[in-house]
Amino acid sequence: MLASRIGRIKPSASSTAAQRARELKAQGHDIISLTQGEPDFPTPEHVKEAAYEAMRRDDTRYTNVDGTIELKEAVCAKFRRENGLAYAPDEISVGTGGKQVIYNALMATLDPGDEVIVPAPYWVSYTDMTVLAEGVPVEVPCAPGHKFKLLPEDLERAITPRTRWLILNSPNNPSGATYTREELKALAAVLLRHPHVWVLADDIYEHIIYDGFEFATIAEVEPQLCERTLTVNGVSKAYSMTGWRIGYAGGPKALIGAMAVLQSQSTNNPSSISQAAAVSALTGPQEYVKGRTEIFRERRDAAVKILNTAPGISCSSPEGAFYVFASCAQIMGRRTPQGQALRTDEDFVLYVLDAEGVALVHGAAYGMSPYFRLSYGASLDEVKEGCRRIARACERLS
Ligand SMILES: Cc1ncc(COP(=O)(O)O)c(C=O)c1O
Repeated sequence: MLASRIGRIKPSASSTAAQRARELKAQGHDIISLTQGEPDFPTPEHVKEAAYEAMRRDDTRYTNVDGTIELKEAVCAKFRRENGLAYAPDEISVGTGGKQVIYNALMATLDPGDEVIVPAPYWVSYTDMTVLAEGVPVEVPCAPGHKFKLLPEDLERAITPRTRWLILNSPNNPSGATYTREELKALAAVLLRHPHVWVLADDIYEHIIYDGFEFATIAEVEPQLCERTLTVNGVSKAYSMTGWRIGYAGGPKALIGAMAVLQSQSTNNPSSISQAAAVSALTGPQEYVKGRTEIFRERRDAAVKILNTAPGISCSSPEGAFYVFASCAQIMGRRTPQGQALRTDEDFVLYVLDAEGVALVHGAAYGMSPYFRLSYGASLDEVKEGCRRIARACERLS
C-alpha cells in the first residue's frame, strides 16, 4: 500500500521528541521539554494586528502561487537592508515555511543520484528531503575542535562531478556554529573552482547571534556566487512566527520559477493571512528582535554553565541559534541505577526523560554522536531546572 520512498525517510526526530513530551505532559507527568525549535515568545502584537486587518479586508483568497507582490517587495527590501543583496521580486519565492522552500529547491533541481553536501551536524530535514528528491546526501563531519564548522579542504574533498548543492546553515541548528565573513570567503574560494556546485544558504537563525558577532551570508560575501546561490530565510525564528508558516528565498529567476511550478502542483500559495502578517513583521519595527536575543543569551549562558557541571557532559558556548549541542561521550558505557548500560546518545536522552522528565533530542538525528541537542527556546526557569535535572540524572550513573 505504501510507496517505497516512505521507507527511505524517517519522521523528524525533533518533532517526534516534542510530540512524546506533549503526550507525557498530557498524561500528568512533570515534563520539561527542551526539544522544540521554536522561541517561546509570542508573535508581536503589530504582526497579529496585520493578520486581523487582512481578514477584515477579505484578503482571504488565493494569492500568487509563490507570494503576494507586497510580501515579495518586503522580502527584497529585507535582503537589501540586512544583507546587501539586490534581489528583484521575480527572484523571490515564498512558501509555507522555510521548510517548504528548501524542499521545493531540492525537488526542482535533483536528478536521481545527484549529490548534496551536508555538513554535519545538520538540521534533520536536509538529508531526508534530499533522499525524497532521489538525491544522495554526502555528510561531511565538522569537528567540535573547529567549532563544528566546515573546513575548505573538507569541502574540496567532498565535491564530485555529481555534486549539485552545498547546504550551508549559519547559525547552525543544532550546533550554533556561525560562519564569519572570512570563513565564508574561504569556502567561496573553493566553490569558485567548481562552477557546477550551487549553494543553499539557510539563514533562518540570522538574527539570533551573540557576543557582537556580525552575521554574513555567502552571496553577499562573494557576489560571483549569487547566480548559483539560493538564500533561504523566514519569519519563524526571528519573529516568533513558527505557526504562521512563512519562509522565503532569493535566487536566480529560473530556479525560483521552477520552485513555483512545483508549489502550484502541491500546496499552492501559503496562507494569505500569514503573508500579510509577514509583511508587517519584515517592514515594521525591528528593535525587539535584538532584545529577544539578549534573553536567549542569558538562557544560553545558564544552560552551558549548568551542563558543564554535569558529570560526563561537556559543551561549548554556541555563537548563534538557540540550541546547545552537548557531548555525552563520557557517559557512554555508564549504567543507570536500574543497571542498564547507556550505549548510544538515544539511550541517554531516553534515560533522562525517564529518570527526570526532561525531553531532549539525540545527536544521531543530526548526524553526529554521541551528543544531544537542548533547545533554550523555553523560559529561563525551565532551561535552568531542565539542566539541573540532567545533571542530577548524570550523577546517578555508575
Ligand atoms: C535550520 C533550519 N532551517 C529551516 C527551518 C524551517 O523553519 P520554518 O519551516 O518554520 O520556516 C528550521 C526549523 O526548525 C531550521 O531549524
